[in-house]
Amino acid sequence: MDNKTAIADSFGRTFPYLRLSITDICNYRCTYCLPDGYRKSQHNKFMNKDEIIRLAKAFAGLGTWKIRLTGGEPTIRKDFIDIVSSINEIQAIKKLSFTTNGYKLPDRANSYYNAGLRSINISVDSLNPEQFKNITGHSRLNELLKGIDACLYAGFETVKLNTVLLKGLNDKELDNFIDFVTDKPISLRFIELMRTLDNQDYFNTHHLSGAAVVERLLARGWKKKNRAIDAGPAQEYINNNCKGTIGIIAPYSKDFCKSCNRLRVSAKGALHLCLFGEGGYLLRHLLQSDDQIEELQDKILTLMKFKVEAHFLHDNNSGVREHLASIGG
Ligand code: 5AD
Ligand code: SF4
Repeated sequence: MDNKTAIADSFGRTFPYLRLSITDICNYRCTYCLPDGYRKSQHNKFMNKDEIIRLAKAFAGLGTWKIRLTGGEPTIRKDFIDIVSSINEIQAIKKLSFTTNGYKLPDRANSYYNAGLRSINISVDSLNPEQFKNITGHSRLNELLKGIDACLYAGFETVKLNTVLLKGLNDKELDNFIDFVTDKPISLRFIELMRTLDNQDYFNTHHLSGAAVVERLLARGWKKKNRAIDAGPAQEYINNNCKGTIGIIAPYSKDFCKSCNRLRVSAKGALHLCLFGEGGYLLRHLLQSDDQIEELQDKILTLMKFKVEAHFLHDNNSGVREHLASIGG
């Protein structure tokens, strides 16, 4: 397949990175995301493996070289390993990663690695077992910690941890989190809580600015890392005495959207040009046979002109997103 024009928008940004959700379903009940657990909707027909692979191939032909599989919880799909292996066969995809809540990770780290995954993002919102249960609805912190070690042992090149900053819930643990990466080659990223349609009150109670983390890092001798040109929106901090790094993802900060390098596709096959703000453009009808690839690619390129410069979260706008389980954060 010839390489077509690479995906770009009207503001000079290019999009080598696709976040691809393969299910909305999650087995956790994180209080900021699915506090009542996943509720089955009548129309939850998620893309099948063939549709997912066609989509990945179309993006790969448009310059995408990095794909992250997300959910929901992507690993609850029975064909997760099959999907991974098939995407891994697409030559242009140089980096295939996934986000997980760490469910059964100690048992599964090796099979993920053997299927071709080299990069993993694990959600860890507390290092305190009780608080972890409070936030996620599950007493599985121990499993998750063992899972992190299992990934390092299995040979994963990139192990990232995501921690949503939550005032009154985990903000007293900043030092513990910082200590956690001292002797582990892990990149821990604090994510500012984002407002969604479902979590407005929760947001008002628990949102905390990433500035609190920066202050603590600087006080402990951490330094801001120079940004790589192709870096995503995290600001990274390093400390010569620590093996790990700490990042801050602050979607409410000025210029956050300037470094946007990613597009998202939902589990039902809708292209989302921004995490917030629009309902998604259905691509599913163009995923039904291999010979639709050109039409699909043209559609994606055409839709790029609708990508706006920045989200509107600052204006209390949560777009149309009920929660992030439908689009993978
Ligand atoms: N704000 C910030 N991060 C969120 N995530 C889910 N919902 C939110 C939210 N409202 C994060 C999860 C996980 C990733 C998939 O998205 O913690 O790390
Ligand atoms: Fe599940 Fe992730 Fe939402 Fe938690 S944040 S409920 S792990 S989708």
